[in-house]
Amino acid sequence: MEPKFFLAVFLLISSTVSAEYIRPPPRKTLYFPWRSTPSSHPQQVHISLAGDKHIRVSWVTDDKSCLSTVEYGTSPGRYSAVSHGESTSYSYLFYSSGKIHHTVIGPLEPNTVYFYRCGGQGPEFQLKTPPAQLPITFAVAGDLGQTGWTKSTLDHIDQCQYDVHLLPGDLSYADYMQHRWDTFGELVQPLASSRPWMVTEGNHEEESIPIIKDGFQSYNSRWKMPFEESGSSSNLYYSFEVAGAHVIMLGSFTDYDEYSEQYNWLKADLTKLDRNKTPWLLVLVHVPWYNSNHAHQGEGDEMMAVIEPLLYAAGVDIVLAGHVHAYERTKRVNNGNLDPCGAVHLTIGDGGNREGLARKYINPQPEWSVFREASFGHGELKLVNSTHAYWTWHRNDDDEPVRSDQVWITSLVSSGCLDEKRQLRKILMGP
Ligand SMILES: *[C@@H]1O[C@H](CO)[C@@H](O)[C@H](O)[C@H]1NC(C)=O
Ligand SMILES: [Fe+2]
Repeated sequence: MEPKFFLAVFLLISSTVSAEYIRPPPRKTLYFPWRSTPSSHPQQVHISLAGDKHIRVSWVTDDKSCLSTVEYGTSPGRYSAVSHGESTSYSYLFYSSGKIHHTVIGPLEPNTVYFYRCGGQGPEFQLKTPPAQLPITFAVAGDLGQTGWTKSTLDHIDQCQYDVHLLPGDLSYADYMQHRWDTFGELVQPLASSRPWMVTEGNHEEESIPIIKDGFQSYNSRWKMPFEESGSSSNLYYSFEVAGAHVIMLGSFTDYDEYSEQYNWLKADLTKLDRNKTPWLLVLVHVPWYNSNHAHQGEGDEMMAVIEPLLYAAGVDIVLAGHVHAYERTKRVNNGNLDPCGAVHLTIGDGGNREGLARKYINPQPEWSVFREASFGHGELKLVNSTHAYWTWHRNDDDEPVRSDQVWITSLVSSGCLDEKRQLRKILMGP
């Protein structure tokens, strides 16, 4: 058949059924050509928040003699300050990592562009610090991987104005192939070197091999998060505060029972909250608790049974999860039921990994589920002020970011729920 004729027929057919969105298939893993960069130059540069007014800069060098220093300042090429950091490396079967550097810089001014250079070598990078007060915008995308769809998602995030990226787990999909952690670092560097990326672990980060390898070695070495700064003893769960939000990053793949360190750390962290300072309380976790997709059905139940009562007592506003490769938004819920004092749950595991989308949903749609769709995309959460937040989900429709779902969320602080819960909080958290 003549290609033009074929195209015309295709366009005719697609225009007559255009009301129904045709979901595209998965895209191939990206090809990363070998680039010859000097071994002392920084690779895979990314930044993360590291306590009040501080940022951690992380990067890799092939050259093991490189120093873990970061020079920085507010004008290009002119560095008024320098920080010295630490470094690590690891080996995994036949793979040996480069030298992985982590250097904390600061104190930094809020909402300010800084120029920086890593190890005194290579190109200059720039970052913008988050604002000190509301409003603040978070970009959210989980289950990224490194495919053509990942690239599409990252390009869309790059076009939006945001302050901090939140990633609810499953980063590189390296799955034991350690060089894929390096290519993932290269892929995300343009975004992750300019805005803080705050991540928590998913199942694809574990990479444990019975007897031979404990889990999370690569993840913990490369994606060091501010766990020490938040009183946690593990990189697998921590919290941070930024511009009116207290954000808790939980670990679905480490112990969470009542006797676990995570549970006790969480209780202590929630007890320290000051809702005048941080009216918004957000939680990220990899495995969703409210999920009406057939994929990973019920996997979050055990953790939900233990942890949800704590979050409810504390008055968590929003829980963001990944794992299921689709998008879903709930009403405010608690213990499986609608509850105006519960959290809104958002599943946003549709970053674009090679496993493709999770298309099958449970019917009828549960009453708590408002919106669900199996498409790749990303979310944006703008905390406008202490009472109002605006959430949007952007589907990667034909490589264009299309805003497909949006909702105003009002905070529990403004609802009176926190006063009602005072009694419950006392019971759960002690005096
Ligand atoms: C918070 O933002 C919302 C939405 O823009 C607005 O309607 C409301 O008046 C604001 N509240 C305050 C206290 O400024
Ligand atoms: Fe997952």
